[in-house]
Amino acid sequence: MKKLLLANWKMELTESSTLDLVFQLKKSMKKISKVEVAIAPSFIYLKEIKNLLGRSKIQLSSQNVAPADKGKYTGEVSAAMLKELGCKYAIVGHSERRIKLNETDELVNRKINQCLEAELTPVLCVGETFEQKQQGQTDSVLVKQLQVALDKVSNLPESEIVIAYEPIWAVGTGQFLKAEELFAFQRTIKRTVSSLYTEKFYDEKVRFLYGGSINSIIAKDYWVCDYIDGILVGGASLDPMEFYNIALEAE
Ligand code: 13P
Repeated sequence: MKKLLLANWKMELTESSTLDLVFQLKKSMKKISKVEVAIAPSFIYLKEIKNLLGRSKIQLSSQNVAPADKGKYTGEVSAAMLKELGCKYAIVGHSERRIKLNETDELVNRKINQCLEAELTPVLCVGETFEQKQQGQTDSVLVKQLQVALDKVSNLPESEIVIAYEPIWAVGTGQFLKAEELFAFQRTIKRTVSSLYTEKFYDEKVRFLYGGSINSIIAKDYWVCDYIDGILVGGASLDPMEFYNIALEAE
């Protein structure tokens, strides 16, 4: 599996700036072959972006997905709808949703089930707050998030998933974990996932991403690290040159 570079554009861009960014990335990313590049724009631009991307290798992701397959869920967007629009990935359990919209691990579990039913690859975000880090609780927070989110998922261990470790204190703050500091957390995640399913599942179907204040100056350290399978980028992905440079560091 190729390493994954995923841009999360959050609720940052209007239509014209979104399409402008896509247009520029479509051109620049032609030169990128070592990593898979994916973008997660707002739902409402997915269709237009899919058309604009044409035969580009850039993949589409949503930033969220509904916890149910269909029915009376006003305002929600289902995994099947996203699949039909051409999404390959769906981000689930982002810390901003957990904190600002009270999303629970149980809800995240339902969303993961929905993704896999519709053959979307979930990008499960996990991570601890600053206070939890200070109190040495990072490992236990990660274990609980994973145990609930990945509990009895019907299409596992057959399907691929992505797990993005994004310490909440590192999101949009300029503070980050160095690649070598991630080893211990990747081990915790691998151990937990292996105990829920199998080590073979982790080795063959799970990609471990890091996210949190990544920029092009530090990106190479993560690309060269064999236990890191990709990067999830927020702020730096809004600048086409900067995002391209992050990808270029992998070449
Ligand atoms: P930043 O790269 O801005 O820290 O955001 C990370 C993130 O939340 C990606 O999902």
